[in-house]
Amino acid sequence: MTLSPLPDRRRVLAGAAALAALPLTPELASAAAAAAVAADWRIAFGDLEADVAPQAMTLVHGKAPAGLAGTLYRNGGAKFRRPGGDATHWFDGDGLIRAFTLADGKATLAARFIDTPKRRADTAARAVISGGFGTLPGPGAHIGSPDDVSGANISVIRRGDRLWALWEAGSPFAIDRTSLATIGPVTLREDLAHMPFLAHPRFEPDGRIWNLGQVGDRAVIWQVEASGTLQAVTPIQLPRASYIHDFTMTDRHLVIVLQPWVYETPSLVPLQSLKWRPALGTQVLILDKADLSARRIVELPSFFAFHMTGASETPDGEIRFDICTTPTPDFATRTAVEVMKGTYPPTPVPELALLTIPRAGSPRLESTGVAAEFPRTDNRVGTGPHRYTLHATGQSPDRPLFRGVGVHDWKTQTAAAFDFGPDHLVEEMVFTPRPGATEEFDGWIIGPTLNLRAGRSELHVFDARRVADGPVASWQAGLAIPAGLHGMFWRA
Ligand SMILES: [Fe+2]
Repeated sequence: MTLSPLPDRRRVLAGAAALAALPLTPELASAAAAAAVAADWRIAFGDLEADVAPQAMTLVHGKAPAGLAGTLYRNGGAKFRRPGGDATHWFDGDGLIRAFTLADGKATLAARFIDTPKRRADTAARAVISGGFGTLPGPGAHIGSPDDVSGANISVIRRGDRLWALWEAGSPFAIDRTSLATIGPVTLREDLAHMPFLAHPRFEPDGRIWNLGQVGDRAVIWQVEASGTLQAVTPIQLPRASYIHDFTMTDRHLVIVLQPWVYETPSLVPLQSLKWRPALGTQVLILDKADLSARRIVELPSFFAFHMTGASETPDGEIRFDICTTPTPDFATRTAVEVMKGTYPPTPVPELALLTIPRAGSPRLESTGVAAEFPRTDNRVGTGPHRYTLHATGQSPDRPLFRGVGVHDWKTQTAAAFDFGPDHLVEEMVFTPRPGATEEFDGWIIGPTLNLRAGRSELHVFDARRVADGPVASWQAGLAIPAGLHGMFWRA
């Protein structure tokens, strides 16, 4: 595929080194002050000042596998600071779609900001006035609907021939997959405009998705065709107003983890409304996909989780899935605030756990003890049982996020991993199958790191069955793009 040229190539920042070479505008001065706090891991939470025109990446190791072709699309905030006021939480940056394209053994990188009402308003005000998950709205903010607050900055999925950039509290934003231009917010039905649509829908084998939209203890269950057409929407009442980031499903049930981080005090800023109430324990709400009014609730000791894998269900109704848990929501409440100031408080490390919910009897949460976040599987297993879980791993005690890639083999109970070392910060990686392969996890792991020493983003490909051997190919970009959250590989 080819990407059309994007504007303002010169103004792209690549950390302090690039800043020094650019004419100093107030925007750049603000970013420079932030970058000057320190180099190293802080570039993961820095600012990108403009879109990135398509650029060839430099092969720095190995050779691209034959048969691997397509684009890794990723999303995540990449602009946080403006002269008149900054985003104060990592979740409140302007969404940036990154496109890492592999073709003919070569890698290309392009990136383009999502043209949201928030980005327009904040740019015009020269301050982050629109607020967000943890950032207060500023003077002059015009918030007519949740879409005016959306950074569209969490994940990206495919619907039809388009990308949808997903946030949590408002509409998806449709994106042209070639130019990365923003088409606009998606209204699934006129009377449902601006409704919440979470960032982690679950996929049926035919490409249909199930998703949640949530306001406090009220929610809707979205069902959307692979084309992007609305199939159904069903309101439900939640047993409690938990913060929900992800959920899972089997072939028969939707499975919604309700942690004891609950919306209590009304506030314009969700983070201020949420209170950690561990005495409530963690609940799991199980809904029948064939009759969403049929439900059961199981109770567990208190834990927090952002992410889980797809779930499987045995014929006798035992549900199993992996989940990355921490004892508390400290990352969201504290770490994601502190990193924007350039400091890192020690934070509980998420661990990979297996959650088993029998049809009758007590559910079991069993930790592997393996540090893990951003869990992914071979999507072809669908709602069947999976053997392998891919995840980021290996935290350093003195900095946020991860430095390694892990693969957990649930059959042998073994953990394989590759450690990039202290110079790299590892982002979410995804699996894509080798063309023609049918066995689970026969294919490649693909994803970026930030090379902190070089001040550059890199792209890596692993043989999925031999992750501990390290990348089979690595490319380096001409700049550093701040760390992203979630992505998907669109095969050519
Ligand atoms: Fe997420």
